[in-house]
Amino acid sequence: MLERIKQMLAEVQTLQAATPEEVEALRIKYLSKKGELAALMNDFRSVAPDLKREVGQRINELKAVTTERINALKSAASAQETTADDVDLTRTPYPVALGTRHPLTIVKNEIVDIFSRMGFTLAEGPEVEDDWHVYSSMNFADDHPARDMQDTFFVEAHPDIILRSHTSSVQARVMERTQPPIRVICPGRVYRNEAVSARAHCFFHQVEGLYIDKQVSFRDLKQVLLLFAQEMFGPETQIRLRPSYFPFTEPSAEMDVSCTICGGKGCSMCKGSGWLEILGCGMVDPAVLEANGIDSTIYSGYAFGMGIERIANLKYQVKDLRLFSENDVRFLEEFRAAN
Ligand code: DAH
Repeated sequence: MLERIKQMLAEVQTLQAATPEEVEALRIKYLSKKGELAALMNDFRSVAPDLKREVGQRINELKAVTTERINALKSAASAQETTADDVDLTRTPYPVALGTRHPLTIVKNEIVDIFSRMGFTLAEGPEVEDDWHVYSSMNFADDHPARDMQDTFFVEAHPDIILRSHTSSVQARVMERTQPPIRVICPGRVYRNEAVSARAHCFFHQVEGLYIDKQVSFRDLKQVLLLFAQEMFGPETQIRLRPSYFPFTEPSAEMDVSCTICGGKGCSMCKGSGWLEILGCGMVDPAVLEANGIDSTIYSGYAFGMGIERIANLKYQVKDLRLFSENDVRFLEEFRAAN
């Protein structure tokens, strides 16, 4: 028996195989249930008791060497399989995984695009602003509540430097360096000192519009906003203007669109009213024109401002504002098709 094991050991060490199939045949010959090693184990039962120890050890050794040899032949054969000639350079590549645009970027681009087609050009301003551009030049009285600590983030030790709380500050930035005609659309991030919840955030995004020229009237404003609403929410969309108040416009209005879900019949989205509020607007107050170096006896204009998150919510029914800033890929990837 010991002699047989010795012979097999020598045999196993010189095994050769060129292909995975040949390796598999060897594995079956030696290591399978009916293979040579199994046969040895069978015969082991009849080995004399005083030899069992040594024979057992030798069989284990043989088994280890055989397994090792066959594994080595196996990896050599499969490595051989994928070298040089077997690489197919004409095969279609695996698709590259692309990222997706952020839903707010998609909506912002859409808004900017609609107004660009109506002749508006893009303007931007800083997020860290001074009181003048955010409030004073926009006709906010010194004691206006919006300046209050509750709304505005101040830069410590510089009470004049703040994070802008609306994009109306870009109106002032544009007016101070451009004479009319002015026709700009200004997207950007704004900040307010609010507790973060599903319905409020300490930063969000707005788009501001400003049009100044000779003889601009409220009719022009209304027509441009109607066109915008129909481009954004569909040709059936209707608008409604309700009187309102903003320090920088006179008269001022808030605009509603017919509900994007029920079309005006009344549903849970519009709380049964058939209308959804989407923006503030009005004729630029002559005091604002004058504060920014534009002659209000020659020129008039309109302005409007809307929240991008609000428009995105109406388009995609996102229930929780926080989703927009958490960057959960599962949420972001839902907008793949909207790219
Ligand atoms: N700035 C306003 C806000 O943050 C939005 C707004 C209302 C902008 C009326 C305007 C406007 O330009 O005319 O709530």
